Amino acid sequence: MNDTVLILGACGQIGIELTQKLRILYGSNNVIASDIREGGEEMLSSGPFEIIDATSKERILEVVKKYEVTQVYLMAAMLSATAEKYPLKGWDLNMTSLLAVLEIAREKHIKKVYWPSSMASFGPTSPKINTPQQTIMEPSTVYGISKVAGEHWCNYYHEKYGVDVRSIRYPGIISWKTLPGGGTTDYAVDIYFDALKKGTFECFLSENTRLPMMYMDDAINATIQIMQADADKIKTRTSYNLAAMSFTPKEIANEIKKYIPDFTIAYNPDFRQDIADSWPQIIDDSHARQDWGWQHEFDLTSMTKDIITNLKSKL
Ligand code: SER
Repeated sequence: MNDTVLILGACGQIGIELTQKLRILYGSNNVIASDIREGGEEMLSSGPFEIIDATSKERILEVVKKYEVTQVYLMAAMLSATAEKYPLKGWDLNMTSLLAVLEIAREKHIKKVYWPSSMASFGPTSPKINTPQQTIMEPSTVYGISKVAGEHWCNYYHEKYGVDVRSIRYPGIISWKTLPGGGTTDYAVDIYFDALKKGTFECFLSENTRLPMMYMDDAINATIQIMQADADKIKTRTSYNLAAMSFTPKEIANEIKKYIPDFTIAYNPDFRQDIADSWPQIIDDSHARQDWGWQHEFDLTSMTKDIITNLKSKL
């Protein structure tokens, strides 16, 4: 494969693991990691790294030209909870970066773009159970508004200019290598750290709040799979629904108790409860499965086993 890949936002929760995987697949020197701040030791020593503000089209283009980049993964974003605190900053980061990359693709400096959307592009009026690929989308968060608008921009650039942009609506992504920041689904990562370190966890969502979730390994596989699929398989150019599991704080706590029997959880919902209540509970991702062969591997049980095993030795 003679592609050169640029990752914007490579130091984020998904970016770090995506960079590692892409460096294995494409060769370290063909994967340029970038972020607004300098990466950690492993990222800097494993391949090229550039400081890039993802809202600067000029700077992105400079790096694209320097390395003759063919594909861009735009992983820089402000997540739901933080964007509710800084609405205009959230909109600016999420939109300006996307339009910069789409323009660079329209000008034919790059061949392919990956941009993540989210289940947050749905809202209170969308069906909550088996949320279809196409349905009412009236998000009530700034993050959701930026995602649904971004999806339409992707589709527009594809239709009008033939830009090959591909997108997935991620559910909450659960990882143990890197902590997420500023999301509403972050509790499902924090809970494992606190369970192992303190034996107790205070949850900012109520016990029966069901949300769609996915283990990082599956999210990375889906991301690379959609990017490597033949273009004619990608029939949706807004963004694909993607699902693996759905659970509540109570259910994940019960799963953790199988390993840490004395684990306790307390519920203290804050402003993030409203965000969670506006989102789907179970997502129908049959289009992704049919069109480009998406299959998940991890459910709540196998994910918890994997995380507890790995985190125990890490901590
Ligand atoms: N995990 C994200 C968030 O909570 C949803 O895309 O903001």
